[in-house]
Amino acid sequence: MASFFFLLSLSLIFCLCLIIRSIDSAEVKPRAFILAIRKDNVTLQYYTTVDTGTPLTYPDLVIDLGGQILWFNCENGFNSSTYRAVRCGSSKCKVAKGSGCVGCNGTPRPGCTNNTCGVYPYNPFSNLLYAGGLGEDSMALYETDGVSYLSHIYVPRLLFACGFNDQLQGLANGTQGVIGLARTQVALQTQLSSAYKIQNKFALCLPSSSEDGLGDIFIGGGPYYMPPYNKDASTLLIKTPLIINPVSTAPIYSEGEHSDEYFINVKAIKINEKALVKEFVKKAASKGMTRVAPVAPFGECFSAKNIRSTVTGLTVPTIVLVLEGNRKYWNIYGGNSMVKETVNIGILEEKRFMPRVHRWRFKPKNFNSIRRTSVGG
Ligand SMILES: *[C@@H]1O[C@H](CO)[C@@H](O)[C@H](O)[C@H]1NC(C)=O
Ligand SMILES: *[C@@H]1O[C@H](CO)[C@@H](O)[C@H](O)[C@H]1NC(C)=O
Ligand SMILES: *[C@@H]1O[C@H](CO)[C@@H](O)[C@H](O)[C@H]1NC(C)=O
Ligand SMILES: *[C@@H]1O[C@H](CO)[C@@H](O)[C@H](O)[C@H]1NC(C)=O
Repeated sequence: MASFFFLLSLSLIFCLCLIIRSIDSAEVKPRAFILAIRKDNVTLQYYTTVDTGTPLTYPDLVIDLGGQILWFNCENGFNSSTYRAVRCGSSKCKVAKGSGCVGCNGTPRPGCTNNTCGVYPYNPFSNLLYAGGLGEDSMALYETDGVSYLSHIYVPRLLFACGFNDQLQGLANGTQGVIGLARTQVALQTQLSSAYKIQNKFALCLPSSSEDGLGDIFIGGGPYYMPPYNKDASTLLIKTPLIINPVSTAPIYSEGEHSDEYFINVKAIKINEKALVKEFVKKAASKGMTRVAPVAPFGECFSAKNIRSTVTGLTVPTIVLVLEGNRKYWNIYGGNSMVKETVNIGILEEKRFMPRVHRWRFKPKNFNSIRRTSVGG
């Protein structure tokens, strides 16, 4: 079974006005960083692991393209000796757009400190917003040349927020927080870009399922090598400007703040110049695809029995996003528009031939993923 990747490169056309000076990058000159992406097959969320603290702990963090900061649960035994709380009113607190001071009456530990810069770790899946403390600690990340994982680079101080046990609802089982990749000064990719003077650019390659292999987050720009394709995949990407939404979409913001999320200008969505879902269903019928009972949250489902599979995924109608600029078309093939649903025998007529039946769900919700890919499906 081939694996399909959805590659999204976000070139940040944004000037960095504040430079975070907290990281002494010493002599190390990495070209780019890489983190592995896994997909949780229950929630369909994508997550990665960021090695943090002393001794190293390995929190799994759900990826949120619209998230403003990296946060994880510090109430889970995290007691790193290199953790430092960031004081309220400090320059680092301003960089994080922190407000107020948070304190704690318990035994001092990461996540329980006084006079600490208050930030708002947010869980978009359960809509939980807490006031948490801003802190910094070392993290260990892999350098990459676009092909493989090179040395493990120890970054002495990166800003993140401490979250809480009861803030994890709705996140994939076992994950401990969220890695926010929005256009903020404290997002991990922005901190790494300014610390190591690498391009403020990142790319996500999302795996269809973890059984098909892992995906990658590249921080710092290409090249990107994705076997079996043996050239730099960054040359295949189409480009479109990111636009700034003047209205904040954050759970909490000040009057007049623009959004930190990524927006692109989609001029039209076409299958055949017709309404998306209806036209998809019609075209699907002409390709001999059989509609089956929908599986929530999807409105349209098809039996996989009579759909051929190729290197771009199932041969279903291609959805085309028409982007800003001349002849900019983002073709969404079956590998990215369809989600595989495995159901037990007894539901579909194929039951006599197969112990398990794959159904493919059409994913109109995918378009939201331009704005917030973390939603996964
Ligand atoms: C989810 O993945 C795990 C391990 O990767 C596997 O054991 C489990 O059967 C999968 N569950 C479903 C519903 O596919
Ligand atoms: C956390 O670590 C400090 C030393 O770094 C130690 O004094 C303290 O007892 C530890 N706390 C817990 C709850 O393990
Ligand atoms: C914070 O300050 C209060 C009041 O001074 C004190 O009782 C408490 O122990 C302190 N908490 C920590 C974590 O140091
Ligand atoms: C979550 O994972 C743990 C072990 O990692 C397992 O014991 C538990 O049953 C899982 N819970 C759910 C709801 O899948």
